[in-house]
Amino acid sequence: MTTALITGSTAGIGAAFARRLAADGYDLVLVARDSERLRKQARELTDRHRIEAEVLSADLAEDAGIASVEARLASTDRPVGLLVNNAGFGNKGRYLEVPMADELRMLKVHCEAVLRLTSAAVPGMRDRGRGGVINVASVAAFVPRGTYGASKAWVVQFTQGIAKDLTGTGVRPMALCPGFVRTEFHSRAGMGTDNIPSWMWLDADRVVDAGLADLAKGKTLSVPDPRYKALLGASKLVPRGMLGKVSSTTGRKYGPQ
Ligand SMILES: NC(=O)c1ccc[n+]([C@@H]2O[C@H](COP(=O)([O-])OP(=O)(O)OC[C@H]3O[C@@H](n4cnc5c(N)ncnc54)[C@H](OP(=O)(O)O)[C@@H]3O)[C@@H](O)[C@H]2O)c1
Repeated sequence: MTTALITGSTAGIGAAFARRLAADGYDLVLVARDSERLRKQARELTDRHRIEAEVLSADLAEDAGIASVEARLASTDRPVGLLVNNAGFGNKGRYLEVPMADELRMLKVHCEAVLRLTSAAVPGMRDRGRGGVINVASVAAFVPRGTYGASKAWVVQFTQGIAKDLTGTGVRPMALCPGFVRTEFHSRAGMGTDNIPSWMWLDADRVVDAGLADLAKGKTLSVPDPRYKALLGASKLVPRGMLGKVSSTTGRKYGPQ
C-alpha cells in the first residue's frame, strides 16, 4: 500500500488528510513539532484503520527539521508515494507590524520547506513512474495580501511550474487553495474571526475530499469549493490595482482581526 507523508498532520487540514488517507488504507508518516500529539494521533489512526503510522517530530522552520524530513522522503525503504506539504501558519498584523524574524520563519516553512521536501520526494516518484505532491496554498495566493499571500502565490507558481516539467513522468503535483477553513490556524495566530460571515467558512474534511478528487482528475490547481471558485472567477475581471484596494477593504471588513 502507498505511504503518504503529511506535514502539519496533527491539526486542521493536515489532520483531515491523515483521517481520509488512513481510511483509504494509506500507511502514513506524520510530521509536526509536538511529538506527544503526533504519537497520540498515530495510535488512534492505527487502531481505527489497521494501517502503519510513523511519527517524525520536526520543526520545518529549522534546517535540521527540514533535513530530517528530506531524509525520510529520499528513503527507498517504504517509499513515500504521496507528499502533502501542509504545515503553515499566519502572523497577526500588517506589513512592518510583524517582526522580521516571524516573516522569515513564514518564508522558511511555506516556501523553503516546500521546495526542499518536494525536491527530496520527486526523484524517487519519477523513477517509480508514479506519485503525487499536494502543496497546500490558499486563495490568498490570488489577492495582494502581504507575506502570507505572497508565500502562497509562490507555492501556486512553483507547483504549476513543476507540474509542467514533470509532464509524462507519472508524478502529479497540485496546489490546493482553500478559503477560510475552521482549524486552529486563526487562534494560534491570535486572530479574531467573529467578523467572518459563516458562509465563508469551509470544513476541513470536505476541503480534503474535494482536493483529492481534483488530484485524481489530474488538476494542478484545486480551489475546493464552488463559492470561492466563483469569487476568484469574478476577481479575474477586476484590474490588479483595484483588486488590491477591494482586497484590503474586504480584508479589513471580513478578514481575521
Ligand atoms: N485555516 C485556514 O483558513 C486556511 C486557509 C487556506 C490555507 N490554509 C493553509 O492550510 C495549511 C494548514 O493550516 P491549518 O488551518 O490546518 O492550521 P492549524 O490547524 O493551525 O494546523 C497547523 C499544523 O501545522 C503544524 N506546524 C505549524 N508550524 C510548524 C512547523 N514550524 N514545523 C512543523 N509543523 C508545523 C502544526 O503542528 P505543531 O504545532 O505541533 O508543529 C499543525 O499540525 C497551512 O499551510 C495554511 O496556510 C489554511
